[in-house]
Amino acid sequence: MAIKRIAVLTSGGDAPGMNPAIRGVVRMGLAYGLEVFGVERGYQGLMESGFHPLLLRDIGGVLGRGGTILQSARTEEFKTENGRRKALHNLNAAGIDGLIIIGGNGTHQGAYALSKMGFPIVTIPSTIDNDLCFTDLTLGVDTALNTVLDAIDKIRDTASSHRRAFLIETMGRNSGYLALLSGIAGGAEIVLIPEAPMTPEQVLEGIQTQYALGKAHSIIIVAEGHRPSTQQVFDYLRAREEEIGFTVRMTILGHIQRGGRPTAYERVLATRLAVAAVENLTAGHTGIMVGLVGNKIEATDLAQVVSCHKGVDLQLFELAKMLEFGRLPAAHNPLAATERLAPSAANSPLKVTQRASEEM
Ligand code: F6P
Repeated sequence: MAIKRIAVLTSGGDAPGMNPAIRGVVRMGLAYGLEVFGVERGYQGLMESGFHPLLLRDIGGVLGRGGTILQSARTEEFKTENGRRKALHNLNAAGIDGLIIIGGNGTHQGAYALSKMGFPIVTIPSTIDNDLCFTDLTLGVDTALNTVLDAIDKIRDTASSHRRAFLIETMGRNSGYLALLSGIAGGAEIVLIPEAPMTPEQVLEGIQTQYALGKAHSIIIVAEGHRPSTQQVFDYLRAREEEIGFTVRMTILGHIQRGGRPTAYERVLATRLAVAAVENLTAGHTGIMVGLVGNKIEATDLAQVVSCHKGVDLQLFELAKMLEFGRLPAAHNPLAATERLAPSAANSPLKVTQRASEEM
């Protein structure tokens, strides 16, 4: 069946890059001579028949805007067969031949379920969590990373000025990607991710070691999915400020990570994915997600996408630990010298007087 009328929606948590993706779908769709419809509020709009035509003027100026002009929603009803039947009915009633769905992990579960009911679907991965397999990056993560980095740089100013240890919590749901990458980019002293958790005791020991090295601050990035939680680690450390040397503070970055102007990288990636989505849909390749694999856009069956769990690259985590935790081999490690001066550094509370003079 020839595709003549397509619809596009954004679902789940908004992410910078969604608007450039919508723009790409509309422009490419119109260039192919298709009618393009927008669905308001994701799957909720699909179930409530919230369709409207999208023309060139509707996407004017959206390339640099965060959020999603189509709005988004999280909905329980779409998880039920009944909810999806309503959506299917509305799609058919509106004469839509194919659907492009932009969203993250939960959105992909819904997309797969709907595609199994026979509707032609192509998805575009978009979530600041970067927790979808078969794409190196999801839309939104590059901008979010830069937002987190900006926050780390600012908080470090205060941390250094006051000799503080700062816990900074990043989003990511169960994924440590945002925390790990921002930790590396921001030169954090410690990164706590769900994939490689640390105990509060280990964190305390790490901070003491940095204090002994003469650092003016300690930045600890905590992924929201880490257990024990940021609050629990904070409470533990806060009660032991005397032992640590630094005073301790906590900042939860929250939803500022989801907003903001998409970066240049994001806009280009969104455009490439959108073009590929329209091309695949019109060519009859459906039930797939288009993703970035080794700088190429590749399509993967939704069945594979939804049955795969993407963890963070633990080699990257080891690298971060080596560089930032002072765990280089003894010959290259300034910490080793400090430990000789202050043998208690690794194992027991340090006194303030045991600080090494060197500033890191
Ligand atoms: O999936 C994106 C995300 O921002 C997660 O990192 C976070 O756990 C969640 O959404 C927050 O969702 P909400 O905005 O619905 O509170």
